[in-house]
Amino acid sequence: MSASYEAEWRARFGDDADLSQEVPESAWLRQVLMRRTHRRYADRPVPEPLLRLLLGTAFSASSKSDFQQASVVHVEDRVQRERLAALVPDMPWIGSAPLFLVFCGDARRLERLAELRGHDADNSNLEGFFNATVDAALVMQTFVLAAETVGLGCCPISALRNHADAVAAILGLPDKVFPVAGLCVGYPAGTGYISMRLPLAVTVHSDRYDDAHLGAAVDAYDTGRNARYAIPREQQRSPEVFGHAAFYGWSEDKARQAVALEGQSFPAYLRARGFNFE
Ligand SMILES: Cc1cc2nc3c(=O)[nH]c(=O)nc-3n(C[C@H](O)[C@H](O)[C@H](O)COP(=O)(O)O)c2cc1C
Repeated sequence: MSASYEAEWRARFGDDADLSQEVPESAWLRQVLMRRTHRRYADRPVPEPLLRLLLGTAFSASSKSDFQQASVVHVEDRVQRERLAALVPDMPWIGSAPLFLVFCGDARRLERLAELRGHDADNSNLEGFFNATVDAALVMQTFVLAAETVGLGCCPISALRNHADAVAAILGLPDKVFPVAGLCVGYPAGTGYISMRLPLAVTVHSDRYDDAHLGAAVDAYDTGRNARYAIPREQQRSPEVFGHAAFYGWSEDKARQAVALEGQSFPAYLRARGFNFE
């Protein structure tokens, strides 16, 4: 059966799906095209068995070399949660979400496995860090999609990494186990909104990488996105540094955000926790 995804595609990209050949109908694909982050949650608990089911689903994600280098800390204790929330006061959803999980890269377990089997494995290089990070990210995104499939809403929190030392102390993370992102989970309190993505002409390349037309494509994307949701003048970043822009689109916003350095303490944290990135 052929299906049309025009409405969902337009919601995500603002242009035509252009699916010239037959494609299968899938309610799940429609839902993923329409997915969104939620930061406000209903006062409704997430049942424990459902959380367990979602975690099992999440850990079904593929894993580099079957090394399985992700760990999740479920923050159940209210005091622990409040200590984490206090680290990032401008994101109150960390404290208010019904559930809070921290997805960690775990380069430690592989070394422990080697130790248990009488081998000497060093997983402190860049490869070890990178594989553990990718595994944790895949588990988290699988959790997000699974949770959204049963009507929950989520918000990843990488801002925790700006306080990695404090997070590690609160959660008792040992060396070579590091936070990739927290995750707020709950039943959404509102409908939220779809954040448009760059067109596939920008993000998908045919045979060879080619960004020759990036400028024009981003201009068009900014215009389309701005028509859907114009960033209010008072939300322009750092006007004291950059001034106020007459047209303030997504690319100006992201460029300003990228100028302000983030995560500067993370490399030192990781080195102090056993990584050498060789
Ligand atoms: C790795 C990662 C870290 C994120 N960190 C934060 C965060 O610290 N705080 C927050 O409010 N949202 C965070 N987000 C959510 C993004 O802002 C959101 O995914 C993005 O704006 C796109 O919106 P959408 O998911 O609704 O499409 C994060 C998302 C990812 C994937």
